[in-house]
Amino acid sequence: MNTSVFTAQRYSTKAFDASRKISAGDWENIQDALRQSPSSVNIQPWHFVIGSDDAGKARIAKAFTNYPFNTNKVLDASHVVVFASRVHASDEFLNAILEQEDKDGRYAKVEDKQTGDNVRRLFLGIHRNDLKDEQEWFARQTYLNLGFTLMTAAALGIDSVPMEGVDLAALDTEFGLTEKGYQAVAVVSFGYRAADDFNAKLPKSRLADDVIFTQA
Ligand SMILES: Cc1cc2nc3c(=O)[nH]c(=O)nc-3n(C[C@H](O)[C@H](O)[C@H](O)COP(=O)(O)O)c2cc1C
Repeated sequence: MNTSVFTAQRYSTKAFDASRKISAGDWENIQDALRQSPSSVNIQPWHFVIGSDDAGKARIAKAFTNYPFNTNKVLDASHVVVFASRVHASDEFLNAILEQEDKDGRYAKVEDKQTGDNVRRLFLGIHRNDLKDEQEWFARQTYLNLGFTLMTAAALGIDSVPMEGVDLAALDTEFGLTEKGYQAVAVVSFGYRAADDFNAKLPKSRLADDVIFTQA
């Protein structure tokens, strides 16, 4: 399989066709990517707010008043996802992951389950106590999910745009994310490009290989 077709066709969509909706089947594939993304020690520190109708998208769009160049990318898209990331991992959360892994058949032996828990707590301890970057570490895992999901969308022929031009604190308030222990980190709109999207016609621009690759 040549994946270049997906990396070439994916681009940041600046204008969506408001008349086109992603089918329920394709959207289930996007949600599957959000669910199946890898994360360090399977910590899955994310939560997603999904706007799929006009009312939901309007609620998300309220956080774009200081970024008007992005507002229509929310209102005209088919589905919009607020990527939120955990601020702290409680014991309750760590136990919930462990029990889910057990339920999903990851642990044939009780010692394996203990090892799984120990390894996760070891890495969390390094970030929480030594590097003191627990919240930032979680945000990095959530961004990895974002990239994974953008590529999945491209493979489905769905256009998208990731956005940091948004008032993240306003999203935290609008969706009660702070009380739930999360912080919004980015928003991604998914849908289909408008026929007049200027960015679809521009060539991609990337740094040269000798700048970004070194052979070991
Ligand atoms: C984390 C992130 C935040 C971005 N924020 C915005 C944004 O607020 N508005 C926008 O139009 N594009 C945004 N972009 C799109 C980038 O400008 C774009 O990815 C980059 O120029 C490369 O072009 P391409 O995505 O078309 O390949 C963002 C991209 C990323 C990865």
